[in-house]
Amino acid sequence: MLDQSNELAAWDRDHFFHPSTHMGMHARGETPTRIMAGGEGVTVWDNNGRKSLDAFAGLYCVNVGYGRQKIADAIAAQASNLAYYHSYVGHGTEASITLSKMIIDRAPKGMSRVYFGLSGSDANETNIKLIWYYNNVLGRPDKKKIISRWRGYHGSGVMTGSLTGLELFHNAFDLPRAPILHTEAPYYFRREDRSMSEEQFSQHCADKLEEMILSEGPDTIAAFIGEPILGTGGIVPPPAGYWQKIQAVLKKYDVLLVADEVVTGFGRLGTMFGSDHYGIEPDLITIAKGLTSAYAPLSGVIVADRVWKVLVEGSDKLGALGHGWTYSAHPICVAAGIANLELIDEMDLVTNAGETGAYFRAELAKAVGTHKHVGDVRGDGLMAAIEFVADRDDRKFFEASQKIGPQISAALAERGVIGRAMPQGDILGFAPPLCLTREEADTVVSETADAVKSVFAGM
Ligand SMILES: Cc1ncc(COP(=O)(O)O)c(C=O)c1O
Repeated sequence: MLDQSNELAAWDRDHFFHPSTHMGMHARGETPTRIMAGGEGVTVWDNNGRKSLDAFAGLYCVNVGYGRQKIADAIAAQASNLAYYHSYVGHGTEASITLSKMIIDRAPKGMSRVYFGLSGSDANETNIKLIWYYNNVLGRPDKKKIISRWRGYHGSGVMTGSLTGLELFHNAFDLPRAPILHTEAPYYFRREDRSMSEEQFSQHCADKLEEMILSEGPDTIAAFIGEPILGTGGIVPPPAGYWQKIQAVLKKYDVLLVADEVVTGFGRLGTMFGSDHYGIEPDLITIAKGLTSAYAPLSGVIVADRVWKVLVEGSDKLGALGHGWTYSAHPICVAAGIANLELIDEMDLVTNAGETGAYFRAELAKAVGTHKHVGDVRGDGLMAAIEFVADRDDRKFFEASQKIGPQISAALAERGVIGRAMPQGDILGFAPPLCLTREEADTVVSETADAVKSVFAGM
């Protein structure tokens, strides 16, 4: 069973302030402590030697899988050669310059520069500042509001937590802050008017966006941010035609588009970027997780050429850009990024994400899709979700207090598979490493079916 008793677990309860954790229950030892010790491929193990198949790749970030020596060697070589130098006032390293080139080579067309940070949250903070700067340079000081979606996830800083459209990340933090607005989530399964087709629902989302832009005033709306496929909000692929209709509205009112590809960047949907997958033409792209497969913390903002030109005009008018982190383009992290992107190519992981992803989702739907408490099985590439409902025909949801999602993920964990109970709704999410094999996919599916059966049998 999970380790509750050893000294480390006691230190953990007494001293380690965990993110996204029930603080009281954890400190009192009412929730389990699991001390992770190692990993190989899609498997991780704890300090009791208990193995699990990690079908969420950590926090959908360990894209190449655990234990890749090539990345560890690249980190070690960079650390012993030059562990740190900054990238202010034109400084760089061979690794930071090479990785920038590798990213632009892989990015959707029209992209020009990469600004490096350390987390998805700080990259989105950079996006907000660049958007404001851009409109100031263009002489549009009122064009500053940013529209995000309910259920979107863009980080948990003050501004990025505001962009995030999930109550858990706002409650008691005095968020969201102005000038952030939220529009309709592209969540077809939860649409109010159930008679709508997917295309009609996409049109409805685009109409809602246009209504918001018009009622606020187009001269005040700077940008729209969205994940190509909703991630933390429930792993929800866009309904048919969604991005085309949204982009038409944005173009009409000269609103920048930020594609938050922190989860989808570098292969997860079976294409290098989610923007390519859905025909999105962003002005800015947020990247993080898959950029280093989380072997080192690294994020980035990819800037389209048309935006870059305005930023350059800005520094010609205003002087050097007053924005930077000590650890921007940290040499150890960018070295990890290079080895990681090489490995993604060498192992042909983008193709595998598409092919094994399609197999995995089809098998999952076969195994649980007809269960009376399964309302929806969905996903794209190597992202999948099962949404549980109290009543399938009436699409009635369970009370949050019943904690159906967490119960099922706990039952699955007991069976040696890690899935994630998504934070809002009873949704079990999967986003395994991109090296997942069909045999491993079969194990995830059969253990999930068993976990679902056991939880509902016990009710
Ligand atoms: C789409 C998206 N954007 C931004 C973030 C924030 O990244 P970080 O947790 O590295 O700050 C996340 C994290 O899950 C994410 O999924």
